[in-house]
Order: sequence, then C-alpha cells, then structure tokens
Amino acid sequence: MTIDLSKIEYFTEEDSVEAVTSRTSSQADERLTVVWAALVKHLHAFAKEVDLKQNEWDAGIDFLTRTGQICDENRQEFILLSDVLGLSMLTDAINNRELVGATESTVMGPFHVKGAPELPMGANISLDGKGESCLFEGSVVDRDGNPISAARLDVWCDNVDGYYDVQQPEIQPKWNNRGIFTTSEDGKYSFRGAKPVSYPIPYDGPVGQLLKLLGRHPNRPAHMHYIVSAPGYKTLVTHSFVDDDQWLTSDAVFGVKASLVAHFEKTPEGNTDWRSPFDFTLVPG
Ligand code: BEZ
Ligand code: FE
Repeated sequence: MTIDLSKIEYFTEEDSVEAVTSRTSSQADERLTVVWAALVKHLHAFAKEVDLKQNEWDAGIDFLTRTGQICDENRQEFILLSDVLGLSMLTDAINNRELVGATESTVMGPFHVKGAPELPMGANISLDGKGESCLFEGSVVDRDGNPISAARLDVWCDNVDGYYDVQQPEIQPKWNNRGIFTTSEDGKYSFRGAKPVSYPIPYDGPVGQLLKLLGRHPNRPAHMHYIVSAPGYKTLVTHSFVDDDQWLTSDAVFGVKASLVAHFEKTPEGNTDWRSPFDFTLVPG
C-alpha cells in the first residue's frame, strides 16, 4: 500500500487542539473524553495567549516535578497548589451549589486525618494544654430549625504555635486538637479546645516559592475545621473563622465566607476562657 504523504495531517500550531483530541478513542470513558478535550483546549489556548517560551515551560515542568517530589503521606503539595490557585474553592463552589439554606462549605485542606478519637460532649481536644481555652458549642439543625440527632462533627485545628499535630509528630501528642462528637436528640454539641490561631500554609516548598515570586503571603486566618455528617443529610466540610483575625480578608487559599466568621467572646466577665457559639444547618442528601 502506498501512502499519499500530501494528505497526511501532522501537528500544527493552528490545529493543535484537534490534533490531540482526535486521538481519543471512541471507546474511552465519556466523561473523561469531555474533560480531556476541555483541558487540552484551555491549556493550548493558555500557551498561545502567553506565547509560552521554551525556558518557561521547562521551569513549569521543573515546578510540577518538585511539587510531586515533596509529597508524602504527611505533605500534599498538589492540594496546596490547587488551594492557592483558587481551584479548590472553585470546585467546592461548583459542587455545593445546592446547599441553599445550609451552612456554607469551604476547603478541606490537607490536614484532616481519618479515625480521630470519638469523644463525649464537652471533652477537651487540646491535649498539649497550650493556648487559650475556648468552648465551642451550638446545634446541628435542618433547614426548618429541627435538631438533627446522630450528627457527627469531626473537628480539627492547629495548636497555639500554628501547626497541626501531623506536622509535628515528634512534638505534639497524637490526635492533639482533633476529635469526633456525636449529637443526641437535642442536636447540640459542645467541646473545649485551644482558640485557633492564624498560621501560614507550608511555604518551604515549590508552592511557597511561587507565592513569594507572586508577592503573596501564605497566611490563613484562624479557624476550626468541621466535617458535619448525619444519616440522610449532605455531608458538610467547613470551618468557623475567628472574627478578629487580621488575615480574614486575604486568606491565602480564599476559604473565608462572611457566614463562616464566628463570634468569639470572653466569658464569663473577667475570665480568660473563650466561648464561640456556632450552629450548623444541613440539607437532605
Ligand atoms: C487548612 O486549613 O488546614 C489548610 C487549607 C489549605 C491549605 C493548607 C492548610
Ligand atoms: Fe486549617
């Protein structure tokens, strides 16, 4: 068989998208085909728009290589990259459009650990005893305000030095500032912990270097993390933020929403302890 070389279409800048996407097999997964085609389309458009130089793309490949190389079971640099790009919050927004009337969601972050201790209501999650003590309390309710029983609140936060226990396994007690609480019929929860403090996301790696080059700070405003779940309801991943934090308006990962800024008050008068009331509303799902 002779091939008519004049009829073969090779890769060109003009037809670059088609050249790549036309290779996808008709047997490929339908959703993958759609997502891959859009990714190729936008990536090629990006390269053309910025007139991508060879040395710039080499630097990009080097950046991605280093991002992968620094990852291990305790360090997830790709999540950080997604977070500082605003992609984590955008994905969260797209996936929670139907949370109308519910407590708003925000980023999970890379520091959740499965299997935290199940604790009785009122227990103290601060195992190192450091920082200012704070009572976190409130209710888990449905959109009509009815209490939700058997709701699980998986909570975690940093210590007074701005680190999660998994970042300092040699220094902090295991499960420091973590716990799981389950509501009874009244839907109420309460636990004691250290008042969260603001902290920088890990910035000693490629994502930190990128932030520096962009003139961006790495700080997150102080917050308590929650995963609130209950049978028959959509699981909520969210935070409550400390209301007087200096980084509220410039969170490095764009996680703040006005409705998630919680009130923290000293109580009773003259006491040094804090109290922060915060209720959660779940939607069926
Ligand atoms: C966090 O809140 O734990 C977190 C979120 C995004 C990046 C780093 C940390
Ligand atoms: Fe956090």
